[in-house]
Amino acid sequence: MSYLELAKKRYSARNFTERSVESKDLEMILEAGRVAPTASNNQPQRLLVIQSEEGLNKLRRAARFFKAPTMIVVCADKREAWVREYDQKDTSDIDASIVTDHMMMAATDLGLNTLWMTWFNPAVIKKEFKIPSHLEPINLLAIGYNGADPKSSDRHSETRKPLSETVFFENF
Ligand SMILES: Cc1cc2nc3c(=O)[nH]c(=O)nc-3n(C[C@H](O)[C@H](O)[C@H](O)COP(=O)(O)O)c2cc1C
Repeated sequence: MSYLELAKKRYSARNFTERSVESKDLEMILEAGRVAPTASNNQPQRLLVIQSEEGLNKLRRAARFFKAPTMIVVCADKREAWVREYDQKDTSDIDASIVTDHMMMAATDLGLNTLWMTWFNPAVIKKEFKIPSHLEPINLLAIGYNGADPKSSDRHSETRKPLSETVFFENF
């Protein structure tokens, strides 16, 4: 499968079955995140993998995540953020998101389904998992097997803007 075919195959799953993620698959997903590029190669990502019922219940207090068996809380260590000197822009949330994307695509390649989430209460996550103050939860990645019909790879003609609306050559 080409990368473009994989990218079109991926969709947000919101109806996970109880089937758990095999540890060899989880290892490959985490490895894909490990090799992701980050600004200045600072690697500020810190990942909390949640699979126990106790952990998933704690996470449920912060977010509605559709019962995925594996959840990864992707955090950024603000102490290791690369900061642009001109305007002090901190790129650690971008880095954490590239890591998240690498893992999401690796999971798709393995035949798993995912949901990327930012709709969660960070204060509740920090409290429930005793996350130190220098770590900021950036994304949740739900991973498992979708129990519903897969979304079509052809859906993007309907669900995405045409390139003519988002890409500009030479001038806006
Ligand atoms: C940064 C980001 C945050 C998102 N947060 C949520 C979320 O909190 N809850 C949710 O149900 N979906 C969330 N999504 C999924 C998007 O709604 C979804 O990717 C988009 O509607 C396109 O649909 P598709 O992924 O099926 O192609 C998020 C996606 C991204 C990239």
